[in-house]
Amino acid sequence: MQVSASAGSTGPAGPAGTEAVLLVGGKGTRLRPLTVNTPKPMVPAAGVPFLSHQLARLRAAGIEHVVMATSYLAEVFEPYFGDGSDFGLRLEYVTEDEPLGTGGAIRNVASRLYSAPHEPVLICNGDILTGLDIRALLAAHTTSGAEISLHLTRVADPRAYGLVPTDADGRVTAFLEKPQTPEEIVTDQINAGAYVFNRSVIDTIPAGHPVSVERETFPGLLAAGAHLHGVVDSTYWLDLGTPQAFVRGSADLVLGRAPSPAVPGRRGESLVLDGARIAQDAKLTGGTAVGGGAVVGAGAQVEGSTLLAGAVVEPGARIRGSMVGAGARIGARVVLDGAVVGDGAVVGADNELRGGIRVWCGAELAAGSVRFSSDQ
Ligand code: GDD
Ligand code: MG
Repeated sequence: MQVSASAGSTGPAGPAGTEAVLLVGGKGTRLRPLTVNTPKPMVPAAGVPFLSHQLARLRAAGIEHVVMATSYLAEVFEPYFGDGSDFGLRLEYVTEDEPLGTGGAIRNVASRLYSAPHEPVLICNGDILTGLDIRALLAAHTTSGAEISLHLTRVADPRAYGLVPTDADGRVTAFLEKPQTPEEIVTDQINAGAYVFNRSVIDTIPAGHPVSVERETFPGLLAAGAHLHGVVDSTYWLDLGTPQAFVRGSADLVLGRAPSPAVPGRRGESLVLDGARIAQDAKLTGGTAVGGGAVVGAGAQVEGSTLLAGAVVEPGARIRGSMVGAGARIGARVVLDGAVVGDGAVVGADNELRGGIRVWCGAELAAGSVRFSSDQ
């Protein structure tokens, strides 16, 4: 694991020792096949498991205690992050027997929190890359006196998110998760996946069965007259839930457009981890990340893409906005554009794969078997 020194402490977060919960138990369905062998937060972005960036940012905001709520492929987190001391954190892991949903997962870790009832607890979705000023969110929570504060961001198309309209004072007036009809699209402000809960509110979530914080807890609290406060912030924000977004986020980390103290190297056109071999005339641009032991052959061009550990790109391949899984092999002159190739897959020479195609882990595509264009 590699963490730069800047991930270290910069003082306490707001009230002494604010603790955080990370929700990392989702199945990552939309990211398949990248999430067949690896839970979404552990898929490498800019050379390290994505979660490393979140943990480093939490630590940089002065947070010291983080509880991870795990479910899908839960067993892989602790062997990698251990007790968190490499990050200057105290990390704990709580695994659900059955997935409890976002609200159930928050409730399920309550016994590990030491905050008093009136104290704030930060809760973060485990797939968000953002420049959010965490201290400012905590400060806004204290100032507003709300029971829950939510980080909100504005997006062009809010349909895939939770819509959160607010009044002139920032008070949340409704919560509409994944709106189905045009009438429901009442705002471009969405839930950005970071909340501050007063500890006492966490204890009111029913225990032991699945609860959605977005579909049940937030609307229920609003109906009961609770004060939920929205903090709209226009800093860098991306949900890495789809392959296109994941590749974009990794490239933005490498390019330095997205902030993280955990990028293992200098920002620039590309990030090449130790042990990768890149042919002299190969071109790596647009925030391309190349994992350890990967090989890029002569004349290959890789733009804004991620090649995971041990991937092989043969001579003359052209790869753009794509993700190549661990140990996968991309044959000579192959074109990948907006493609995902699963771990260990083999794409034979002269294939042309575009537009969101997903090649499953271990699949083998014979040479010259798929093209979009009619040329040879
Ligand atoms: N522990 C645990 N258990 N974690 C879970 C579970 C579960 O059963 N289900 C989901 N999670 C975690 C996921 O791992 C992820 O980090 C987070 O909860 C949110 O789940 P996603 O599946 O990524 O949800 P989404 O992206 O469709 O929507 C959520 O995020 C949007 C912002 O990106 C919602 O919170 C939306 O309201 C929000 O706008
Ligand atoms: Mg998500």
